[in-house]
Amino acid sequence: MERGLTLLVAALVVYVTPSVQGTAHLSFSNATVDITRSGCGVNKLCVETPDDCAPGGTGDCLFVSVVAAAPVAPNGAMLSIELRGDSSGYIALGLTAAASKDTTMLFICAQNNLTNRFFFRTMTLNNTDSVLTGNEELVSDIRGMVNGTVIKCEFNITSVNATRSRSSQATTATILLGRGTTRGTTIGAFNRTLNSGPLNLADPASNVRATAAPTNTTITNTTMPNSGGAVQPHAVLLLLSVLSLAVMLREGSCG
Ligand SMILES: *[C@@H]1O[C@H](CO)[C@@H](O)[C@H](O)[C@H]1NC(C)=O
Ligand SMILES: *[C@@H]1O[C@H](CO)[C@@H](O)[C@H](O)[C@H]1NC(C)=O
Ligand SMILES: *[C@@H]1O[C@H](CO)[C@@H](O)[C@H](O)[C@H]1NC(C)=O
Ligand SMILES: *[C@@H]1O[C@H](CO)[C@@H](O)[C@H](O)[C@H]1NC(C)=O
Ligand SMILES: *[C@@H]1O[C@H](CO)[C@@H](O)[C@H](O)[C@H]1NC(C)=O
Ligand SMILES: *[C@@H]1O[C@H](CO)[C@@H](O)[C@H](O)[C@H]1NC(C)=O
Ligand SMILES: *[C@@H]1O[C@H](CO)[C@@H](O)[C@H](O)[C@H]1NC(C)=O
Ligand SMILES: *[C@@H]1O[C@H](CO)[C@@H](O)[C@H](O)[C@H]1NC(C)=O
Repeated sequence: MERGLTLLVAALVVYVTPSVQGTAHLSFSNATVDITRSGCGVNKLCVETPDDCAPGGTGDCLFVSVVAAAPVAPNGAMLSIELRGDSSGYIALGLTAAASKDTTMLFICAQNNLTNRFFFRTMTLNNTDSVLTGNEELVSDIRGMVNGTVIKCEFNITSVNATRSRSSQATTATILLGRGTTRGTTIGAFNRTLNSGPLNLADPASNVRATAAPTNTTITNTTMPNSGGAVQPHAVLLLLSVLSLAVMLREGSCG
Protein backbone atom coordinates (compact mmCIF):
# COMPACT_ATOMS: atom_id res chain seq x y z
CA MET A 1 0.00 0.00 0.00
CA GLU A 2 2.78 2.41 0.88
CA ARG A 3 4.60 1.52 -2.29
CA GLY A 4 1.44 2.13 -4.26
CA LEU A 5 1.13 5.59 -2.80
CA THR A 6 4.75 6.35 -3.52
CA LEU A 7 4.25 5.35 -7.12
CA LEU A 8 1.15 7.49 -7.40
CA VAL A 9 2.97 10.50 -5.98
CA ALA A 10 5.95 9.91 -8.20
CA ALA A 11 3.73 9.59 -11.26
CA LEU A 12 1.93 12.80 -10.42
CA VAL A 13 5.13 14.69 -9.75
CA VAL A 14 6.63 13.52 -13.01
CA TYR A 15 3.44 14.30 -14.84
CA VAL A 16 3.23 17.93 -13.79
CA THR A 17 6.91 18.85 -13.71
CA PRO A 18 8.21 19.62 -17.17
CA SER A 19 11.87 19.71 -16.20
CA VAL A 20 12.22 16.13 -15.02
CA GLN A 21 13.23 13.20 -17.16
CA GLY A 22 10.32 10.83 -17.49
CA THR A 23 10.75 7.35 -16.23
CA ALA A 24 14.09 7.99 -14.59
CA HIS A 25 12.25 9.23 -11.56
CA LEU A 26 10.32 6.10 -10.74
CA SER A 27 12.95 4.53 -8.54
CA PHE A 28 12.35 2.07 -5.75
CA SER A 29 15.78 0.85 -4.88
CA ASN A 30 14.89 -1.02 -1.71
CA ALA A 31 11.93 -2.98 -2.95
CA THR A 32 12.28 -6.71 -2.50
CA VAL A 33 12.06 -8.48 -5.80
CA ASP A 34 12.20 -12.25 -5.75
CA ILE A 35 12.56 -13.88 -9.15
CA THR A 36 12.74 -17.64 -9.62
CA ARG A 37 12.22 -20.22 -12.38
CA SER A 38 9.15 -21.51 -10.61
CA GLY A 39 6.33 -21.76 -13.16
CA CYS A 40 8.53 -21.45 -16.23
CA GLY A 41 6.90 -23.14 -19.21
CA VAL A 42 3.67 -23.59 -17.27
CA ASN A 43 2.50 -20.25 -15.88
CA LYS A 44 5.05 -17.97 -17.44
CA LEU A 45 7.16 -17.79 -20.55
CA CYS A 46 10.85 -17.75 -19.61
CA VAL A 47 13.77 -16.74 -21.78
CA GLU A 48 17.31 -16.61 -20.47
CA THR A 49 20.99 -16.78 -21.21
CA PRO A 50 22.89 -18.92 -20.45
CA ASP A 51 20.35 -21.73 -20.81
CA ASP A 52 18.50 -22.71 -17.65
CA CYS A 53 20.44 -20.27 -15.48
CA ALA A 54 19.16 -19.46 -12.00
CA PRO A 55 17.75 -15.95 -11.59
CA GLY A 56 17.70 -16.33 -7.83
CA GLY A 57 21.43 -16.94 -7.63
CA THR A 58 24.39 -14.63 -7.81
CA GLY A 59 25.90 -16.01 -11.03
CA ASP A 60 25.77 -14.76 -14.58
CA CYS A 61 22.14 -15.02 -15.65
CA LEU A 62 20.14 -12.72 -17.87
CA PHE A 63 16.54 -13.83 -17.41
CA VAL A 64 13.07 -12.63 -18.31
CA SER A 65 9.64 -14.06 -17.65
CA VAL A 66 6.47 -12.92 -19.34
CA VAL A 67 2.86 -13.46 -18.34
CA ALA A 68 0.18 -12.18 -20.69
CA ALA A 69 -2.98 -11.23 -18.87
CA ALA A 70 -6.11 -12.97 -20.05
CA PRO A 71 -8.17 -12.14 -21.94
CA VAL A 72 -5.75 -11.04 -24.59
CA ALA A 73 -7.27 -8.28 -26.60
CA PRO A 74 -7.04 -8.56 -30.38
CA ASN A 75 -4.94 -5.45 -30.58
CA GLY A 76 -2.60 -6.03 -27.71
CA ALA A 77 -2.01 -7.58 -24.32
CA MET A 78 -1.08 -6.56 -20.84
CA LEU A 79 2.18 -8.20 -19.95
CA SER A 80 3.59 -8.82 -16.52
CA ILE A 81 7.39 -8.93 -16.63
CA GLU A 82 10.18 -10.17 -14.37
CA LEU A 83 13.68 -9.22 -15.46
CA ARG A 84 16.97 -10.14 -13.82
CA GLY A 85 20.56 -9.76 -14.89
CA ASP A 86 24.08 -8.76 -14.04
CA SER A 87 25.31 -5.31 -14.89
CA SER A 88 26.94 -2.35 -13.28
CA GLY A 89 24.88 -0.32 -15.77
CA TYR A 90 21.62 -1.65 -17.09
CA ILE A 91 19.81 -4.73 -18.32
CA ALA A 92 17.03 -4.54 -20.88
CA LEU A 93 14.16 -6.47 -22.36
CA GLY A 94 13.41 -5.73 -26.00
CA LEU A 95 10.17 -6.57 -27.77
CA THR A 96 10.11 -6.41 -31.53
CA ALA A 97 8.38 -7.94 -34.53
CA ALA A 98 11.65 -8.56 -36.32
CA ALA A 99 15.10 -7.78 -34.98
CA SER A 100 16.33 -6.95 -38.45
CA LYS A 101 13.93 -4.12 -39.28
CA ASP A 102 11.58 -1.54 -37.78
CA THR A 103 12.07 -0.78 -34.11
CA THR A 104 12.34 -2.49 -30.74
CA MET A 105 10.61 -1.36 -27.57
CA LEU A 106 13.28 -1.49 -24.85
CA PHE A 107 12.32 -1.79 -21.19
CA ILE A 108 15.36 -0.90 -19.14
CA CYS A 109 16.13 -1.71 -15.50
CA ALA A 110 19.24 0.11 -14.46
CA GLN A 111 21.46 1.33 -11.70
CA ASN A 112 22.75 4.86 -11.57
CA ASN A 113 26.48 4.22 -11.79
CA LEU A 114 27.23 7.05 -9.38
CA THR A 115 24.72 6.21 -6.63
CA ASN A 116 23.93 2.54 -7.38
CA ARG A 117 20.25 3.42 -7.10
CA PHE A 118 17.70 1.59 -9.24
CA PHE A 119 15.93 3.42 -12.05
CA PHE A 120 13.68 2.46 -14.95
CA ARG A 121 13.46 3.69 -18.53
CA THR A 122 11.73 2.82 -21.76
CA MET A 123 13.39 3.55 -25.06
CA THR A 124 12.95 2.84 -28.74
CA LEU A 125 15.79 1.05 -30.49
CA ASN A 126 16.00 1.57 -34.24
CA ASN A 127 16.78 -1.93 -35.51
CA THR A 128 18.43 -0.54 -38.62
CA ASP A 129 20.90 1.98 -37.25
CA SER A 130 20.81 0.98 -33.55
CA VAL A 131 20.08 4.51 -32.35
CA LEU A 132 18.24 4.74 -29.03
CA THR A 133 15.62 7.39 -28.46
CA GLY A 134 13.51 8.10 -25.42
CA ASN A 135 9.89 7.05 -25.54
CA GLU A 136 7.12 6.55 -23.06
CA GLU A 137 5.55 3.15 -23.20
CA LEU A 138 2.69 2.44 -20.86
CA VAL A 139 4.28 0.77 -17.87
CA SER A 140 2.96 0.38 -14.35
CA ASP A 141 3.80 -1.35 -11.10
CA ILE A 142 7.56 -0.91 -11.41
CA ARG A 143 9.59 -2.54 -8.67
CA GLY A 144 13.32 -2.89 -8.77
CA MET A 145 16.36 -3.61 -6.67
CA VAL A 146 20.09 -3.49 -7.06
CA ASN A 147 22.55 -5.64 -5.15
CA GLY A 148 26.09 -5.13 -6.37
CA THR A 149 25.91 -5.94 -10.07
CA VAL A 150 22.67 -7.90 -9.79
CA ILE A 151 19.63 -5.97 -11.00
CA LYS A 152 16.11 -7.35 -10.55
CA CYS A 153 12.87 -5.74 -11.53
CA GLU A 154 9.21 -6.39 -12.13
CA PHE A 155 6.77 -4.28 -14.09
CA ASN A 156 3.58 -4.45 -16.10
CA ILE A 157 3.44 -3.31 -19.68
CA THR A 158 -0.11 -2.14 -19.86
CA SER A 159 -0.57 -2.38 -23.58
CA VAL A 160 1.69 -4.01 -26.10
CA ASN A 161 0.62 -3.49 -29.65
CA ALA A 162 2.80 -6.04 -31.36
CA THR A 163 0.78 -5.60 -34.52
CA ARG A 164 2.14 -2.09 -34.60
CA SER A 165 5.19 -3.80 -36.03
CA ARG A 166 3.16 -5.95 -38.44
CA SER A 167 3.45 -9.24 -36.67
CA SER A 168 0.87 -11.80 -37.73
CA GLN A 169 -0.49 -12.37 -34.24
CA ALA A 170 -1.02 -9.58 -31.76
CA THR A 171 0.89 -11.49 -29.09
CA THR A 172 3.72 -12.72 -31.29
CA ALA A 173 6.98 -10.91 -30.73
CA THR A 174 10.69 -11.49 -30.63
CA ILE A 175 12.34 -11.07 -27.25
CA LEU A 176 15.77 -9.47 -27.08
CA LEU A 177 17.89 -9.39 -23.95
CA GLY A 178 20.99 -7.32 -23.44
CA ARG A 179 23.01 -5.01 -21.28
CA GLY A 180 24.64 -1.64 -21.41
CA THR A 181 26.38 1.00 -19.39
CA THR A 182 24.98 3.96 -17.52
CA ARG A 183 26.56 7.30 -16.77
CA GLY A 184 24.47 8.55 -13.92
CA THR A 185 21.01 7.93 -15.33
CA THR A 186 22.07 8.29 -18.97
CA ILE A 187 21.66 5.09 -20.94
CA GLY A 188 24.60 3.84 -23.01
CA ALA A 189 24.54 1.67 -26.12
CA PHE A 190 22.49 -1.53 -26.03
CA ASN A 191 24.60 -4.67 -26.30
CA ARG A 192 22.30 -7.48 -27.36
CA THR A 193 23.15 -10.94 -26.11
CA LEU A 194 19.99 -12.88 -26.92
CA ASN A 195 17.47 -12.95 -29.75
CA SER A 196 14.65 -15.42 -29.07
CA GLY A 197 13.10 -15.37 -32.52
CA PRO A 198 9.31 -15.06 -32.76
CA LEU A 199 7.44 -16.32 -29.71
CA ASN A 200 3.81 -16.30 -28.74
CA LEU A 201 4.00 -14.22 -25.57
CA ALA A 202 0.65 -15.56 -24.44
CA ASP A 203 1.87 -19.17 -24.44
CA PRO A 204 4.19 -20.07 -21.53
CA ALA A 205 5.36 -23.14 -23.44
CA SER A 206 6.17 -21.38 -26.70
CA ASN A 207 9.83 -21.42 -25.73
CA VAL A 208 10.07 -25.05 -24.66
CA ARG A 209 13.66 -25.90 -25.29
CA ALA A 210 13.18 -29.34 -26.80
CA THR A 211 11.49 -27.82 -29.85
CA ALA A 212 13.01 -24.40 -30.32
CA ALA A 213 15.93 -23.14 -28.31
CA PRO A 214 16.93 -19.54 -28.67
CA THR A 215 20.17 -19.73 -30.56
CA ASN A 216 21.17 -16.36 -31.89
CA THR A 217 23.88 -14.89 -29.70
CA THR A 218 24.97 -12.18 -32.08
CA ILE A 219 26.44 -9.20 -30.32
CA THR A 220 25.50 -5.87 -31.78
CA ASN A 221 26.36 -2.38 -30.68
CA THR A 222 24.14 0.62 -30.61
CA THR A 223 24.99 4.23 -31.05
CA MET A 224 23.61 7.04 -29.04
CA PRO A 225 21.76 10.04 -30.40
CA ASN A 226 23.33 13.43 -29.81
CA SER A 227 20.87 14.17 -27.06
CA GLY A 228 22.39 11.48 -24.90
CA GLY A 229 19.05 9.73 -24.75
CA ALA A 230 17.15 12.34 -22.82
CA VAL A 231 13.51 11.50 -22.47
CA GLN A 232 11.15 14.11 -23.76
CA PRO A 233 9.54 15.43 -20.60
CA HIS A 234 6.17 16.40 -21.97
CA ALA A 235 4.61 13.01 -22.41
CA VAL A 236 4.91 10.93 -19.30
CA LEU A 237 2.64 7.94 -19.44
CA LEU A 238 3.44 6.19 -16.20
CA LEU A 239 0.16 5.86 -14.47
CA LEU A 240 -1.39 3.56 -11.96
CA SER A 241 -4.67 3.30 -13.71
CA VAL A 242 -4.39 3.74 -17.39
CA LEU A 243 -7.15 1.87 -19.10
CA SER A 244 -9.10 4.87 -20.29
CA LEU A 245 -6.07 7.08 -20.75
CA ALA A 246 -4.32 4.38 -22.71
CA VAL A 247 -6.84 4.69 -25.49
CA MET A 248 -6.38 8.45 -25.69
CA LEU A 249 -2.65 8.39 -25.41
CA ARG A 250 -2.11 5.59 -27.87
CA GLU A 251 -3.81 7.61 -30.52
CA GLY A 252 -1.58 10.53 -29.73
CA SER A 253 1.66 8.59 -29.67
CA CYS A 254 1.28 6.24 -32.57
CA GLY A 255 -0.30 8.49 -35.10
C1 LIG B 1 17.62 2.05 0.88
O1 LIG B 1 18.40 1.45 1.90
C2 LIG B 1 19.57 2.20 2.21
C3 LIG B 1 20.36 1.38 3.23
O2 LIG B 1 19.50 0.75 4.12
C4 LIG B 1 19.15 3.57 2.75
O3 LIG B 1 20.31 4.32 3.03
C5 LIG B 1 18.34 4.28 1.68
O4 LIG B 1 17.87 5.52 2.17
C6 LIG B 1 17.15 3.45 1.27
N1 LIG B 1 16.47 4.07 0.14
C7 LIG B 1 15.15 4.19 0.08
C8 LIG B 1 14.62 4.84 -1.14
O5 LIG B 1 14.42 3.80 0.97
C1 LIG C 1 0.21 -6.38 -13.07
O1 LIG C 1 0.12 -7.69 -13.59
C2 LIG C 1 -0.24 -8.66 -12.61
C3 LIG C 1 -0.20 -10.01 -13.27
O2 LIG C 1 -0.93 -10.01 -14.45
C4 LIG C 1 -1.62 -8.34 -12.08
O3 LIG C 1 -1.95 -9.24 -11.06
C5 LIG C 1 -1.61 -6.93 -11.52
O4 LIG C 1 -2.93 -6.57 -11.12
C6 LIG C 1 -1.14 -5.95 -12.55
N1 LIG C 1 -1.07 -4.63 -11.97
C7 LIG C 1 -1.71 -3.58 -12.49
C8 LIG C 1 -1.56 -2.28 -11.79
O5 LIG C 1 -2.41 -3.69 -13.49
C1 LIG D 1 15.91 3.93 -38.45
O1 LIG D 1 17.13 4.27 -39.01
C2 LIG D 1 17.12 4.29 -40.43
C3 LIG D 1 18.54 4.53 -40.89
O2 LIG D 1 19.09 5.63 -40.22
C4 LIG D 1 16.16 5.38 -40.89
O3 LIG D 1 16.10 5.41 -42.28
C5 LIG D 1 14.77 5.09 -40.34
O4 LIG D 1 13.86 6.12 -40.66
C6 LIG D 1 14.82 4.93 -38.83
N1 LIG D 1 13.53 4.45 -38.39
C7 LIG D 1 12.82 5.08 -37.43
C8 LIG D 1 11.52 4.48 -37.07
O5 LIG D 1 13.26 6.09 -36.88
C1 LIG E 1 23.01 -9.24 -1.86
O1 LIG E 1 23.84 -10.29 -2.35
C2 LIG E 1 24.56 -10.96 -1.33
C3 LIG E 1 25.40 -12.03 -2.01
O2 LIG E 1 26.13 -11.47 -3.06
C4 LIG E 1 23.62 -11.60 -0.35
O3 LIG E 1 24.34 -12.20 0.70
C5 LIG E 1 22.68 -10.55 0.22
O4 LIG E 1 21.72 -11.16 1.03
C6 LIG E 1 21.98 -9.82 -0.91
N1 LIG E 1 21.15 -8.76 -0.36
C7 LIG E 1 19.87 -8.66 -0.66
C8 LIG E 1 19.13 -7.50 -0.04
O5 LIG E 1 19.30 -9.44 -1.39
C1 LIG F 1 -1.90 -1.57 -33.42
O1 LIG F 1 -1.06 -1.26 -34.52
C2 LIG F 1 -1.69 -1.43 -35.79
C3 LIG F 1 -0.66 -1.20 -36.86
O2 LIG F 1 -0.05 0.07 -36.72
C4 LIG F 1 -2.85 -0.45 -35.87
O3 LIG F 1 -3.52 -0.62 -37.10
C5 LIG F 1 -3.82 -0.75 -34.75
O4 LIG F 1 -4.85 0.21 -34.76
C6 LIG F 1 -3.10 -0.66 -33.40
N1 LIG F 1 -4.00 -1.06 -32.36
C7 LIG F 1 -4.18 -0.31 -31.29
C8 LIG F 1 -5.12 -0.82 -30.27
O5 LIG F 1 -3.56 0.74 -31.13
C1 LIG G 1 30.05 5.83 -14.69
O1 LIG G 1 30.09 5.55 -16.08
C2 LIG G 1 30.90 6.47 -16.81
C3 LIG G 1 30.75 6.13 -18.28
O2 LIG G 1 30.85 4.76 -18.50
C4 LIG G 1 32.34 6.35 -16.33
O3 LIG G 1 33.14 7.28 -17.03
C5 LIG G 1 32.39 6.65 -14.84
O4 LIG G 1 33.72 6.42 -14.38
C6 LIG G 1 31.45 5.72 -14.11
N1 LIG G 1 31.43 6.10 -12.72
C7 LIG G 1 31.55 5.20 -11.74
C8 LIG G 1 31.50 5.71 -10.36
O5 LIG G 1 31.64 4.00 -12.00
C1 LIG H 1 28.79 -7.08 -25.21
O1 LIG H 1 28.60 -8.15 -24.28
C2 LIG H 1 29.52 -9.21 -24.44
C3 LIG H 1 29.20 -10.28 -23.44
O2 LIG H 1 27.84 -10.43 -23.30
C4 LIG H 1 30.94 -8.69 -24.21
O3 LIG H 1 31.84 -9.76 -24.43
C5 LIG H 1 31.23 -7.57 -25.17
O4 LIG H 1 32.49 -7.02 -24.87
C6 LIG H 1 30.17 -6.49 -25.04
N1 LIG H 1 30.41 -5.48 -26.07
C7 LIG H 1 30.39 -4.19 -25.78
C8 LIG H 1 30.63 -3.27 -26.94
O5 LIG H 1 30.18 -3.77 -24.64
C1 LIG I 1 31.10 -2.67 -31.59
O1 LIG I 1 31.92 -1.88 -30.78
C2 LIG I 1 33.25 -2.34 -30.75
C3 LIG I 1 34.00 -1.50 -29.74
O2 LIG I 1 33.67 -0.13 -29.89
C4 LIG I 1 33.83 -2.25 -32.15
O3 LIG I 1 35.18 -2.73 -32.15
C5 LIG I 1 33.00 -3.10 -33.08
O4 LIG I 1 33.48 -2.96 -34.41
C6 LIG I 1 31.56 -2.69 -33.03
N1 LIG I 1 30.75 -3.61 -33.80
C7 LIG I 1 29.79 -3.20 -34.60
C8 LIG I 1 29.01 -4.29 -35.27
O5 LIG I 1 29.51 -2.02 -34.76
